[in-house]
Amino acid sequence: MRNGFLAAFGYAPEAVASAPGRVNLLGEHTDYNDGFVLPIALAQQTTVSLGHAVGEEFTLRSEGFARPLRFRLDRRPDEPFGRYVFGCIQEVARRGHAIPPLDIHVGSELPMGVGLSSSAALEVATLRALRRFLDVAIDDVEIARMAQRAEIDHAGVRSGILDRMASSLADPAHALFVDARTLEARLWSLPAGTAVLVIDSGVPRSRVPSKVGERRSECEEACARLGVASLRDVRRLATVESLPDPWRRRARHVVSENDRVVRAVAGADGARLGRLMNESHASLRDDYEVSLVEVDRLVSLLQEHPAVHGAKWTGAGLGGACVAICAADRIADVAAEVLGDYRRLGGRGRLLAPPELLA
Ligand code: GLA
Repeated sequence: MRNGFLAAFGYAPEAVASAPGRVNLLGEHTDYNDGFVLPIALAQQTTVSLGHAVGEEFTLRSEGFARPLRFRLDRRPDEPFGRYVFGCIQEVARRGHAIPPLDIHVGSELPMGVGLSSSAALEVATLRALRRFLDVAIDDVEIARMAQRAEIDHAGVRSGILDRMASSLADPAHALFVDARTLEARLWSLPAGTAVLVIDSGVPRSRVPSKVGERRSECEEACARLGVASLRDVRRLATVESLPDPWRRRARHVVSENDRVVRAVAGADGARLGRLMNESHASLRDDYEVSLVEVDRLVSLLQEHPAVHGAKWTGAGLGGACVAICAADRIADVAAEVLGDYRRLGGRGRLLAPPELLA
């Protein structure tokens, strides 16, 4: 990607680092229940470039903002975007590293607000750039943890670890199996002959309020009623059937979703992975109730295409992008035909991955 730091500040950056966005193949709303997730990184990245600033202030410039944002370490910026970067700087400072005032440039290929974790990519890229700039050793799991703390403490979003682990450890050629309790992670190769297709539904995630806080509380209540520390500790689906609704359905989603991730990484070909993704979508729609009619329509069009093994919503839900696992040699046809049908039905979808079809 073109580096805009030179144009913005008039000198070459001293450290540059990038981090990708992600889609989640399986394991939706399991991370904050100590469960399992299976994301894959996207080719689209966010790039952060740093240099020593003259003076006492940090200056943050981004391609998305006309005006620079200036701040000092003793006062958090008001703008949400600045808070992510500020939070990452604070996380590194908390480890005892002295951080001089910096010029910071952010460039991103990731669309915001469609569920591809642009905020995680920004945090991980910022932390990687700081790691390089200061020449300090911080491992990739710790980067994910620091990114999560930056988001919770400074951006005020109680996010799970999924997006940050994916951005810090996954790559576009492999999915990443993560145990959200232990943060043990390992790369998992996609089934032979398959490829990942990502389509934005055109329904912004901001259109309806997120249900994540409500669902978290419901999961906590389900745990209290079952007498377990987390839903991860429930292995048999029959256990949750004794709960009254809505806790029964919320817990059933989480327990069955964990099982789908485990079954996929135990050895799934394209057809089996696809079936698990279809089941995941139905569970998100019917049991977790984080679905919208327009997005269900796009997922159905994908699922009905003969070259698609399976499809689901990705991320928190209630808008944003859908992910499908397709026959790799038919992916261009799938994208064109499904988007055509979706638009004929009034949708405003657009292709987000794979990158070779975006040109
Ligand atoms: C959002 C959160 C993640 C995860 C997903 C749902 O993307 O940031 O931590 O909970 O929703 O799987």
